[in-house]
Amino acid sequence: TEIDIAAEDLDLGGYPHYMAKEIQEQPESVERMIRGRLDDRFGVARLDGLNLTPRELRGFSRVKILGCGSAYYVGQIGATMIEELARIPADAEAASEFRYRNPIIEADTLYIAVSQSGETIDTAFAVEEIKRKGGRVVGLVNVVGSTIARACEGGVYLHAGPEIAVASTKALTNMAVGFALIALSLGRVRDLSNADGRRIIDAIRALPGQIKTILDAEPEIAEHAKTVAAAQSLFFVGRVRGFPVAREGAQKFKEISYRHAEAYQTSELKHGPLALIDESLPTVAVVPSDELTDRNLAAVQQIKARGGAVLAVTHEDVDFGELDVPRIVVPRTEPELDPILLTVPLQLLAYHAALSLGYDIDKPRNLAKSVTVE
Ligand code: G6P
Repeated sequence: TEIDIAAEDLDLGGYPHYMAKEIQEQPESVERMIRGRLDDRFGVARLDGLNLTPRELRGFSRVKILGCGSAYYVGQIGATMIEELARIPADAEAASEFRYRNPIIEADTLYIAVSQSGETIDTAFAVEEIKRKGGRVVGLVNVVGSTIARACEGGVYLHAGPEIAVASTKALTNMAVGFALIALSLGRVRDLSNADGRRIIDAIRALPGQIKTILDAEPEIAEHAKTVAAAQSLFFVGRVRGFPVAREGAQKFKEISYRHAEAYQTSELKHGPLALIDESLPTVAVVPSDELTDRNLAAVQQIKARGGAVLAVTHEDVDFGELDVPRIVVPRTEPELDPILLTVPLQLLAYHAALSLGYDIDKPRNLAKSVTVE
């Protein structure tokens, strides 16, 4: 009816799509995620909802993160942060696989279920399986009072606000920030110093302004997107911190741009996929300024030498030398937090690619916002 359309226009707040609106909301939505949760004095996060005492937090010797789709990829980002900041072995697995493989549940593992909707059936089943076997599971969930939030024994709400577009953006960014907070909590009951904790807290506090800077570059990213969208197939590459960023970037491209997008570890290119590189297969390369920059630049050079085009998502101080590589530059944060900011331009890249191809951005074919039935 006309009334419904008018209501929907109002919700869109003048944006052409919910995805565009939700991308732009990220500075405020990250503010909500961190409000009241940063303790400067002790360089630690305040996460009372986890329902875990410092002694319990100390007792975990492993972390296992479970989610589906983009939540799984952000879980990989989270696992890396936890390993780096807390030095506890951590990994992420697709909840859809975990629930079917008779998983080994250990008492000294902290299980974290990640979900925007809190209703994804595979993730909800994984939570039930963990509980049935006596494991401790907390949630990183957006929708308050949802099935997964209720089933978990504690958790951290994302406060991203309602997310309508099927392709998740602001909820994912808040998940990544949530993992930084959890990593801080786990780190500060171990070897992470007060000073290092404060270093991370200061960096977290700067994220909303830095995201705003990335969003201001939207016109340039839109131009890059048109070029990239011309290819039928593309690679997204990154390594270590950058690999889940590449996976999430590729996921967005598949979901809304209907392009074959494959994510690879930059380090694995030479072990096979380099054979595919030619003029028709462009690569989006995640090349942050960190201890692996030189290795990443060497890989970019190898791609270029085989005629492949490269678009880099990178930092200002990375020197590409003679390499003719267009760049999307994101602000630097603490290296452990780089994935949070590196992911943002890839949302805009997929959005503008889909826009230029004329696809239905908010409701891509064959997909549902949350998969709640078997
Ligand atoms: C669906 C959506 C994905 C989403 C996944 C997990 O498959 O298409 O975009 O990442 O569910 O959703 P959740 O609500 O659990 O985060």
